[in-house]
Amino acid sequence: NNSPHAYITDLHFYKVFFKRINDSSTWEEAVDYCRNKNSHLISISSEMEQNTIATLVNTTKSSSVWLGLRQSRVFGFWFWTDEMPLSYQNWTSGSPPQISFSNHCAVISKDNNFLWASVSCLEKHPFICRSPLISN
Ligand SMILES: *[C@@H]1O[C@H](CO)[C@@H](O)[C@H](O)[C@H]1NC(C)=O
Ligand SMILES: *[C@@H]1O[C@H](CO)[C@@H](O)[C@H](O)[C@H]1NC(C)=O
Repeated sequence: NNSPHAYITDLHFYKVFFKRINDSSTWEEAVDYCRNKNSHLISISSEMEQNTIATLVNTTKSSSVWLGLRQSRVFGFWFWTDEMPLSYQNWTSGSPPQISFSNHCAVISKDNNFLWASVSCLEKHPFICRSPLISN
């Protein structure tokens, strides 16, 4: 269909397809939606991917779009749901916020030059699914 989308070739030379879903959803709803489409709520592992995602986020009305990144409620560390190592990061605060016993997930924030920010996982935002396959 005509959802906004983009293609890249990632650092491992895999073709990656990003598709933006405009329905505002909680973080867990967004994770489930992407899983049901054989994809993952987006992870970002390079500056090139960051810039591709920024372009997709730029054309939403919403100021925030979910990343597939959440904080461990007990231990406070951040992790990607697709199990990508958290090596590349680009937070508004310069480093990941550490708030223990919280229910925080990450968004990419259009109002903050597309940097990443920590918000309640229960907020509702549009999101982008990431898939290694070209799907409709
Ligand atoms: C962080 O994100 C901004 C905005 O998308 C981008 O211009 C910049 O290159 C990124 N920084 C790094 C180190 O990737
Ligand atoms: C976002 O859109 C504005 C206005 O069209 C444009 O000037 C800017 O370069 C865009 N930024 C990105 C990262 O796509």
